[in-house]
Amino acid sequence: MTDLLTFLKEEQIDPALIDGVREFREKYPAEGSRYANRLIAPEAVYYGNAVWEKAIAAILTGRNLLLAGPKATGKNVLADNLCALFARPAWNVSFHIGMDAYGLIGMDTYDGEKVVFRPGPVYLAAKEGGFAVLDEVNMAKNESLAVLHAALDHRRVIDVPGYDRIDVSPATRFIGTMNYGYAGTRDLNEALSSRFVILSMPPISGEDLTRLLAARFPGMKERVRDQFVRLFLEIMKKAEEGEITERALDLRGLLDAIALISCGTRAGDALTMCLVNKTFDGYERSLIRDVIEARIPSDLSKADL
Ligand SMILES: Nc1ncnc2c1ncn2[C@@H]1O[C@H](COP(=O)(O)OP(=O)(O)O)[C@@H](O)[C@H]1O
Ligand SMILES: [Mg+2]
Repeated sequence: MTDLLTFLKEEQIDPALIDGVREFREKYPAEGSRYANRLIAPEAVYYGNAVWEKAIAAILTGRNLLLAGPKATGKNVLADNLCALFARPAWNVSFHIGMDAYGLIGMDTYDGEKVVFRPGPVYLAAKEGGFAVLDEVNMAKNESLAVLHAALDHRRVIDVPGYDRIDVSPATRFIGTMNYGYAGTRDLNEALSSRFVILSMPPISGEDLTRLLAARFPGMKERVRDQFVRLFLEIMKKAEEGEITERALDLRGLLDAIALISCGTRAGDALTMCLVNKTFDGYERSLIRDVIEARIPSDLSKADL
């Protein structure tokens, strides 16, 4: 696993924050936790100094953190990195319209002989000092999120009629993610947003994207890598200016395309599949195709990487 503390030192993160992380880890050692199998070994690091420092400060001061921003800005990568950095077992919960209190806290079930309580992810994270990642938290219905209010504010309890009342462990943090693009999205209600410190996730910088590509595709020629970085920055600019929607502004798509090219797919086809086809509007497609063709020869192939 990437040693995140070393990485953060190299990234020149404020040493006081790094010391804070060390102290947290000493205070709440991961060893001996029944849920050591939930410790995360991140596959990729999050790049972005300013965001790292804000996120660490929020967690050290006991805040719940909401990562809000356009898609593919590394919200989940950062959330996982934070769980790993603080060495806490992680419970990752995908929110959706059908999510209800039982899915979060747990429910009584019949085990064949008797009724037993089967705890849900939020209950377990709260009890075991875990970090709960509430993924796309804005997608759930307000009513089902109400059970989280007391857990997320100063009361730090889960107290639902019919359940045991449990205190939220002092090591527990809640990290929400929420897609929020230039054109907005489904909102998060005020009761919930007031219980989070909200970090607005910037799109990756050109410099950090260069580092990400170098780490992900170590064999790629520098010249080609720069072309992909420029391509992405240009799509980003067009999306910010409202010339195109954010559908093609998809770092995941760019990484997928490069992976396909290294597997033998021609660049033109790979970029069509992974970026152009993300939008279903004919006019927008042609705009995106133009931007791509101006940067990446469509017959660029595996050998050119
Ligand atoms: N700042 C960043 N640092 C590292 N990786 C990033 C960053 N921004 C985006 N990515 C990459 O983009 C992809 C999508 O990241 P993810 O965390 O799933 O996005 P989100 O949850 O914001 O939609 C991943 O491959 C991730 O590595
Ligand atoms: Mg995500």
